Amino acid sequence: MTGLFPRRRDVSEIVRILRVRHGERKKKGGVVMEITREAAWNLLTEYNQGEFHLRHGKTVGGVMKWFAETLGYGDEADFWEIVGILHDLDFEQFPEQHCIKLQEILRSRGAEERLIHATASHGWQLTVTIAPEHEMEKVLYAVDELTGLIGAVALMRPSKSVCDLEVKTVKKKWKDKKFAAGCSREVIGRGAELLGWELDDLIEKTIFAMRSCENKS
Ligand SMILES: [Fe+2]
Repeated sequence: MTGLFPRRRDVSEIVRILRVRHGERKKKGGVVMEITREAAWNLLTEYNQGEFHLRHGKTVGGVMKWFAETLGYGDEADFWEIVGILHDLDFEQFPEQHCIKLQEILRSRGAEERLIHATASHGWQLTVTIAPEHEMEKVLYAVDELTGLIGAVALMRPSKSVCDLEVKTVKKKWKDKKFAAGCSREVIGRGAELLGWELDDLIEKTIFAMRSCENKS
C-alpha cells in the first residue's frame, strides 16, 4: 500500500517543486517570491497614484529591459524591467525615506534580496549606503535621472518624441543648469563613471532605449 501514497519526504519535495513552478523559491527562514512584471506593476499602482510616477516607472522599466538585451543579459530582461518598474516604489508616499521604506515594503511582500538590493542601490550617496555593484544596478543609477532629462528635452520639440532626438540637443540642455534642474547632472555623471562609459555614449544609448519603449503600454 505504501506505493500508493507519497512518503513525507516526497510530499515536501512536491511542495518545493510546486513553489518553484509558481515563481517561489524556498529559502532558509521563509519563501522568497520572484515577482512577475504584472505583480510589479500592481504593486507600483498600489503605492503610487500620480501619473508622473507611474509613467516614470514604466519608462525606466522599458529602458532597463532594452539595456539588458543590448548588454548581453537577455535572459534577465524581465528582471531588469521589474527593477526599473519598482525602483521608485516608495517615493510618492515616503520621499524622506526614499529607498529605505522601499526595502521594508518589498521585504514584507517576500521579494528576493537581489531585487531589494538592485532597487535600493539607486539611492546610493543620497539616502542609503548600498552601492550599485552589478552592471544592472549601475545602469539603473545612470539612467534614472537621465530619462527625466531626455524626456524633458523631447517635450520641447515639435514631435514631442525621442524618435528624432539627437545627443547634441540633450548636451545643449545639459549645460543649461536651469533646465530640468531636478535631474541631477552630478548623479548622471557619476553613473557614467561607474559604468566606465563616456557621457555621450550613455546619452545615446539611453535615447535608443527610450525609443524602444515610447508609447508602449
Ligand atoms: Fe527614478
